[in-house]
Amino acid sequence: MTVGDWNDGWERLMARYQPGRAQAIERMIELVATRCEGPAPRVLDVGGGTGTLCSRLLERVPGAEVTLVDLDPVMLTIAGSSLPPSVRVVRADLREPDWTALLPDTGYDAVLAVMALHYLPPGRLTELYAELGGLVRAGGFVANVDDMPDGEAVASAVDDGEDLWGTWWSQVAEDPVLGPAVAERTRLFGESPSAEWHPPAEWHLRALEAGPVDEAAVAWRNGAQAAVVAFKAR
Ligand SMILES: C[S@@+](CC[C@H](N)C(=O)[O-])C[C@H]1O[C@@H](n2cnc3c(N)ncnc32)[C@H](O)[C@@H]1O
Repeated sequence: MTVGDWNDGWERLMARYQPGRAQAIERMIELVATRCEGPAPRVLDVGGGTGTLCSRLLERVPGAEVTLVDLDPVMLTIAGSSLPPSVRVVRADLREPDWTALLPDTGYDAVLAVMALHYLPPGRLTELYAELGGLVRAGGFVANVDDMPDGEAVASAVDDGEDLWGTWWSQVAEDPVLGPAVAERTRLFGESPSAEWHPPAEWHLRALEAGPVDEAAVAWRNGAQAAVVAFKAR
């Protein structure tokens, strides 16, 4: 088994936690394909994990200049071994306000996030949205797909009756290459399941518009899953 083979298990796991995942990712890619000008849009995937969005985007927009940011050494190792070498893979902690200094570029056409920002508390996510908006060029956009229930915000921890999440991570810990990265991951994120916070889409729209973007709207919804997108005026 190669490191890249762990991608399949990750996709099965994510499909369990993200109903309509394929459709959500397709919506993000469609936004890039239809709203970005030219054959080589500059795209940033924050909390990009193993690189699912990046690789699917490149199938549709092969000329895209793509950067993936994540902190998890396991995710970064899988992404680095599965994505084409043209994709820049950057290790950075979105909890830190100076993370943008680690990026190779600015002036992105699209800054995207899939199921990656619910680990951040409200204050930090508001700041991060402003930072993401600051990375976007005029006419570009920030888009985020996550659980965004109608109504009240929901706080939760990863808790699954079958503990699919825990089982997958235990299996990865046994891998001779990824095992040491799992130990490093625990040092970075801690042992216990991450706290999660899922505000409604309205909250995301207001938080986005508090930053340097202009129009924020819900671009897609499937049950509790939604995509919000915010464009920067030309
Ligand atoms: C549920 S996964 C989703 C990954 C990927 N976007 C996908 O859809 O397959 C959440 C991702 O956010 C990343 N992440 C969480 N907290 C982070 C932080 N503080 N800095 C950078 N990445 C973070 C995790 O490492 C993980 O890759």
